[in-house]
Amino acid sequence: MTVLVLGGTGEARELAAALVADGMTVVSSLAGRVARPRLPQGETRVGGFGGIDGLADHLRTQAVRAVVDATHPFAATISEHAAQACGRVGVPLLRLARPGWASEPEAPRWHWVDDHACAARTAAGLGRRVLLTTGRQRLAEFTGPLTDHDVLARVVDPVEVPLPARWQVFLDRGPYALAGERELMERHRTEVLVTKDSGGDHTRAKLDAAGALGVAVVVVRRPAPPAGVRTVSDVAEARRWLSAPPG
Ligand SMILES: NC(=O)c1ccc[n+]([C@@H]2O[C@H](COP(=O)([O-])OP(=O)(O)OC[C@H]3O[C@@H](n4cnc5c(N)ncnc54)[C@H](OP(=O)(O)O)[C@@H]3O)[C@@H](O)[C@H]2O)c1
Repeated sequence: MTVLVLGGTGEARELAAALVADGMTVVSSLAGRVARPRLPQGETRVGGFGGIDGLADHLRTQAVRAVVDATHPFAATISEHAAQACGRVGVPLLRLARPGWASEPEAPRWHWVDDHACAARTAAGLGRRVLLTTGRQRLAEFTGPLTDHDVLARVVDPVEVPLPARWQVFLDRGPYALAGERELMERHRTEVLVTKDSGGDHTRAKLDAAGALGVAVVVVRRPAPPAGVRTVSDVAEARRWLSAPPG
């Protein structure tokens, strides 16, 4: 009997390590988006399941006893698929999602938007020099509104879409510290920072640096989680739930 951890995050790796230490059989699932992923302890499988049907089949054939959806808060499709597939097959599902940044003291001063397209339009009106940290997959939504801006796009893997001439790409991977974030923004003379509400500590230093330097901040709100799925915000709670999952 196996616990399936839908991963791709630091919390997922932390949970896998804790469960391996507890002596459980853990399989972590990665989408396969990142060229050189940090691998969790325990077994790993890589690649999509083939939609809800494929995931439901996987749960049945692999005798999965419980699923923890520890994917990134913006990975809305796989979270919805997990809710549907687990519901169909009758496998208990827990969502492990780190808290967002909405309760940070500076949050009321940030420009909160509902999606990436709105973030692009909002950033375009706030300044000419933009530090874009929303990831590689949605860059195409920013290129139109920010064509003539001096954009520094920080991404983990090389970008595959054509980018405007004034844009620069900077390959890097967190965690990031305040001094480095401050130095980056000073060197680029950043006027606007664009981020998702990813939450957690690995990438939050940019928000502190922006606050200290008077940089405007645009934050994309999280997508709504699937209805009716129990959610916890830390690994210890997930571990407790797994010690006696419902059903
Ligand atoms: N979105 C972000 O900002 C972000 C940031 C950091 C890390 N990540 C990680 O990167 C992965 C992909 O994120 P995304 O936003 O592209 O996902 P997504 O849009 O929610 O999912 C798209 C498809 O990718 C496959 N998939 C996603 N996560 C998977 C997983 N853990 N294991 C197996 N298949 C998975 C599924 O394919 P099938 O339908 O074929 O099963 C899913 O339908 C996730 O694991 C997430 O935790 C995402």
